Amino acid sequence: MLRCLHSIPGLLAALVVSFMAITGAVLSLQPLVERVFAPAGNEMSVATLVDRVLAHQPQTESVVRSASGAVTAYVANLGIGIDPVTGASLGPVEHSALFTFFTELHRSLFLGDGGRVVAGVAAVAMVILATSGIALLINRMGGWKQLFATARGTLSQRLHVELARLAVICLLLSAMTGVYLTLVTFGIVSDGGQGFGFPPYGSGEMPAPIASLSALQEVPISDLRSIILPMADDTQDVFTVTTSAGTGYVDQASGALLDFTPNAPMQTLYEAIYTLHTGQGYWWLGVLLGLASLAVPVLMITGTLIWLRRRTSMPRMPCDAGWRKADTVILVGSESNTTWSFAATLRTALAKNGHAVHVAPMNGLRASYPSASRVLVLAATYGNGTAPANANRFIERLARFQGTGIDYAVLGFGDRKFRHFCAYAETVEHAMAAHGLKPITGFEPIDRQSAQAFGQWGRRLGAAMGETLELLHQPTQPKTQSYKLIERHDYGIEVQAPTVLLRFAIPAAPSWTQALKSRLGLDGFFAGDLAGIMPPTDPIPRYYSIASRSADGILEICVRKLRGGVCSDYLFGLRPGDSVEAFVRPNPDFRPDTGCQPLILIGAGAGVAPLVGFVRANSRHRPVYLFSGGRDPSSDFLYREELKAQLDAGRLTRLFAVFSRVMGGRYVQHRLLDEAEQLRSLVRQGARFMVCGSAAMGDGVRASLDNVLAPLDLSVERLQSAGRYAEDVY
Ligand SMILES: Cc1cc2nc3c(=O)[nH]c(=O)nc-3n(C[C@H](O)[C@H](O)[C@H](O)COP(=O)(O)OP(=O)(O)OC[C@H]3O[C@@H](n4cnc5c(N)ncnc54)[C@H](O)[C@@H]3O)c2cc1C
Ligand SMILES: Cc1cc2nc3c(=O)[nH]c(=O)nc-3n(C[C@H](O)[C@H](O)[C@H](O)COP(=O)(O)O)c2cc1C
Repeated sequence: MLRCLHSIPGLLAALVVSFMAITGAVLSLQPLVERVFAPAGNEMSVATLVDRVLAHQPQTESVVRSASGAVTAYVANLGIGIDPVTGASLGPVEHSALFTFFTELHRSLFLGDGGRVVAGVAAVAMVILATSGIALLINRMGGWKQLFATARGTLSQRLHVELARLAVICLLLSAMTGVYLTLVTFGIVSDGGQGFGFPPYGSGEMPAPIASLSALQEVPISDLRSIILPMADDTQDVFTVTTSAGTGYVDQASGALLDFTPNAPMQTLYEAIYTLHTGQGYWWLGVLLGLASLAVPVLMITGTLIWLRRRTSMPRMPCDAGWRKADTVILVGSESNTTWSFAATLRTALAKNGHAVHVAPMNGLRASYPSASRVLVLAATYGNGTAPANANRFIERLARFQGTGIDYAVLGFGDRKFRHFCAYAETVEHAMAAHGLKPITGFEPIDRQSAQAFGQWGRRLGAAMGETLELLHQPTQPKTQSYKLIERHDYGIEVQAPTVLLRFAIPAAPSWTQALKSRLGLDGFFAGDLAGIMPPTDPIPRYYSIASRSADGILEICVRKLRGGVCSDYLFGLRPGDSVEAFVRPNPDFRPDTGCQPLILIGAGAGVAPLVGFVRANSRHRPVYLFSGGRDPSSDFLYREELKAQLDAGRLTRLFAVFSRVMGGRYVQHRLLDEAEQLRSLVRQGARFMVCGSAAMGDGVRASLDNVLAPLDLSVERLQSAGRYAEDVY
């Protein structure tokens, strides 16, 4: 619901809101421009000011002071700019044609009342977007206390979150004040203006010199809005003085204040809201509001990209029974969608048996399912045994789940090569049991999307439900493209660690929509993302960390040959000119954050490749320290020349290259201990760690760093939960 509220009006209103924001940003410069050109002289009284004006412009009928401090004298309806220090004329006042044009465009789009309605609707849409955005952000970051934690996700997601956090308060302020001003324009809300009353009569005695009038001496010009001078030769006429506090009348002979009407509360409110919307008189507020407005078009583009990605990545489940009517609910935790295809097979088989089935992401768990008697959870595991993005709120939601009469089964999807095989699914299993739900079958882990293991689980589930359940799963193959090898470099043969660096050309986009998508950055990849390679003899892809980014025009990976390994053997056999079938998967959790704190990169063997990619992209010269491990510098010092060049170019601050098959050989984890003092100092500066390579190396690095961090009362686990430790180990 919250997401719909944020995305649908967001997309519909995006263009109008952006238009209003851009015109608003231009107008927000007005207070600054006025401030720059406004004359000095704020200390004098209104009596002195009028005295000086009249010395130069004896025919003056009224004097107006704008919020920026500019003083204008009106002589027969002609505005003349005045230097308040001397009272001298600065020439006729000309309103900026640019600001007049933009003011009209912003308020009514030159469409009269119709345009004012559109502007008002855009302001309402902005209020909805900003408030639902804040709620979504709190949700996404895991509570309001985490609101300013490091943002995760794709580039669009991170940009969207970072900009929204910076701009949302100002945007909400502009939008709410804009709604109010629209309501005032249409008379739905009063601006508190009291209209003109009749001024009192003055004493009719001989006028005294203006500079001597006590009531005018008491008003500093900083409070003045306007002063209307008495008609010449009418001794009973009075000065009408409007200040920020109200309107008063001053006798031109005695200088006494004859009457004073303070501003009504609604009028004061209107003045305050008008100032908050326009920044009038507060140039810094204008600049702040303008900068926030400029974020809107960027938020619109990144928001559209996020929405498109979500829509295209979640498979369609036709004929869903709906959560209210379903007797069986299937919840899916998936990052790269293969688990959804297993859910589709399960749904079809259950529907064939006459069940009403509802399928949803795990984060979509509702507080209750009125007709359901079972919930089946299919959960993949990622990273360090953690949840896929669409399941990261599940455990929290489970706490509010009323599951009386509902049984459950959890099926884990993972890969035994990972240290925490199906760990997240196991966490879910324990949480559901602890919540008091009754299991239908025991917990089942599925290794590497095995269709056979899935079929066996289906038979056991069916038996427990008292029916026959045949799950014949046909794996859906990821969409691949043909990547042609253009370059290869071999390392490590002499030290029995054959490793090859492969550079592939990026295929041309097959259609104009694909071309558009990659132009918009939807299909682009970054170092640290994964290349899924399909070996010709096996339907299961193997993943390789990418060292390049799509903007480089090549896809670069580094592959370590495994004895008896299907895919690594196949890749080792490639020669320039050969092609592979491959696809790219984003790996948003393994990307450097956008901060400027030091980055400590640790990798060994092929694991160094994505880390070199991060160094290449360090154009801002953030401090980057690389610990790289190999066997022998003469044989498998990967990227040796390039790393030297990156040190010279300042993209890499220090390189710690460690080799194990040389005299006094060491592994990266040992070198970390040698550098403990420097590492602690970097951690105190907010350093972030990124580790890539084999699971064994990952374990060694964690153990060493726990030792290094202990004197700081920190641990790898604590850094990890603070978003300062990311690993890609396999
Ligand atoms: C996220 C991710 C990133 C990866 N990045 C890289 C990378 O940048 N470079 C790279 O070379 N590899 C990387 N891998 C590993 C890669 O995906 C393959 O697992 C590896 O190349 C072996 O595949 P294979 O087909 O040759 O072996 P398989 O035919 O799948 O397996 C053959 C034998 O080797 C064992 N085996 C398979 N993989 C491993 C392993 N990693 N360690 C120990 N034993 C294993 C199997 O259990 C089996 O006994 C990554 C894996 C993941 C999940
Ligand atoms: C980057 C990455 C990290 C992974 N981490 C784990 C892990 O820690 N434990 C595990 O059992 N499987 C892990 N896997 C394997 C996936 O869970 C498995 O491939 C699953 O079938 C993917 O399902 P999905 O396509 O629906 O996301 C990982 C896969 C990738 C690509």
